[in-house]
This record gives sequence, structure tokens and C-alpha cells, in this order.
Amino acid sequence: MITLSVNGRRREVDADPTTPLLWVLRDTLRMPGTKFGCGIAMCGACTVHVNGVATRSCITPISAVGSAEVTTIEGLSEDGLTTLQEAWLEHDVVQCGYCQSGQIMSAAALLAKTPNPTDEEIDTAMSGNICRCGAYNRIRDAIKQAANEGGVR
Ligand code: FES
Ligand code: FES
Repeated sequence: MITLSVNGRRREVDADPTTPLLWVLRDTLRMPGTKFGCGIAMCGACTVHVNGVATRSCITPISAVGSAEVTTIEGLSEDGLTTLQEAWLEHDVVQCGYCQSGQIMSAAALLAKTPNPTDEEIDTAMSGNICRCGAYNRIRDAIKQAANEGGVR
């Protein structure tokens, strides 16, 4: 058994230590908010936070997580939508939605570290998150609004 800390809860999982965190989250812990896109760290759909850092869960074995705190889209806010998610709704960012939890997790990590990012900082932080629907301008606008309203929370 391996013990993980996910969204503030200790979780015991019976899985091989080499198992990617993504599959433990989705299949073992039944949290489908984190998505599988490419499986090779190229699309960002599987992004979660590990100790606050945006991390590609598809290539992160659970043995590498250890006692670090994992936050998924399900755990981003315990009491409703964050300022960031409200901004996402106001800007009608989502099209098909598949990339969106990864986008929001990358944006949340950015704002936690850089509360008032420049356009360049936004583009750099979000460059690894692919959106096949091309919602990039709305994503950037929502991040800017959330920054103006005080950040991620
Ligand atoms: S599924 Fe992990 S980066 Fe694409
Ligand atoms: S909203 Fe469809 S892939 Fe991003």
C-alpha cells in the first residue's frame, strides 16, 4: 500500500509504485476531473498540483509523489468555485471542455506564485496546455480578470 495526500485527505492505494498518478486519481480514487490526453507530457490535460507546482500527472509515478500534497480540480476549492473559476464562467471560456481542468490547474498555480502576471508570464505558464478548440484568448482574459479580483481563491 502507498499513502498519498490528495485534496487534504490521506489516501491508501494498492498500486504499483510506478503507476502514473493520473491513473491512481482516475481509476483508483475515482476522481475523473483530471484528464488523459497524450500520456507523454505534451498536452497538459492531466495537470494537477504537487505541493503547489503544476505537474503532469501522466508521467509522474506515485513513488515520486511521496508525502507531497496533491491537489486536483476537485480539491481546488472546498466551498464552491474559486475566483479563477468564476472568471472562467464569466468569459465563457469552455468549448468542448476536455482541456479545461488542466488549464485551470496551470492557471491556479501561476496565480498562486505570480498574483499579477504579465501577458508574457501568462503565455509562458500556459504554453504547455493545449486547447484543440482554440480558447486561448478567453483563457488569458479569464486569468487577467481573476488576477484583478485578487487571485485564485
Ligand atoms: S496527458 Fe499528461 S500532458 Fe497530456
Ligand atoms: S475547450 Fe476543447 S480542447 Fe480546450
